[in-house]
Amino acid sequence: MGERIGLLLKKNSVITLEGTLGAGKTTLVKGIAKGLDIENNIVSPTFTLIQEYLGRLQLYHMDLYRIDSAEEFELLGAEEMFYADGVCIIEWSEIAKDFLPKDLIEISIDINEDKSRDIKIEGLDL
Ligand SMILES: Nc1ncnc2c1ncn2[C@@H]1O[C@H](COP(=O)(O)OP(=O)(O)OP(=O)(O)O)[C@@H](O)[C@H]1O
Ligand SMILES: [Mg+2]
Repeated sequence: MGERIGLLLKKNSVITLEGTLGAGKTTLVKGIAKGLDIENNIVSPTFTLIQEYLGRLQLYHMDLYRIDSAEEFELLGAEEMFYADGVCIIEWSEIAKDFLPKDLIEISIDINEDKSRDIKIEGLDL
């Protein structure tokens, strides 16, 4: 599914990924990266906060789990990446909600009892 999403993305797409710890957010980003023709292995940005990759479009993969305040997010300088003609995908985006563009793709992942996932996507132009 990630790969198919990746194929549909246009420049300046901003995606928020919702889902509990271990829901499969980073795994979905791996697929999206494939759809963007990115050959690098996607690693979780939990500690680096932002990872950049170059494919059909530049991918900025953010994980804000370790960001404690909106001020800290501002200092990170990530806001300008929303408008840098690439694609931004943000895990744990809640802390940055005041800075997100209005035109958002929102994806949420729920884990079912049998470990399968329900994935809901809003705002993606087909
Ligand atoms: N669609 C899926 N079906 C079954 N297992 C999955 C699926 N997606 C991810 N997993 C498994 O769930 C685990 C956690 O995946 P992942 O690291 O992508 O989650 P995450 O939401 O990014 O976690 P975190 O909240 O720590 O950032 C991995 O072992 C992965 O293989
Ligand atoms: Mg993750």
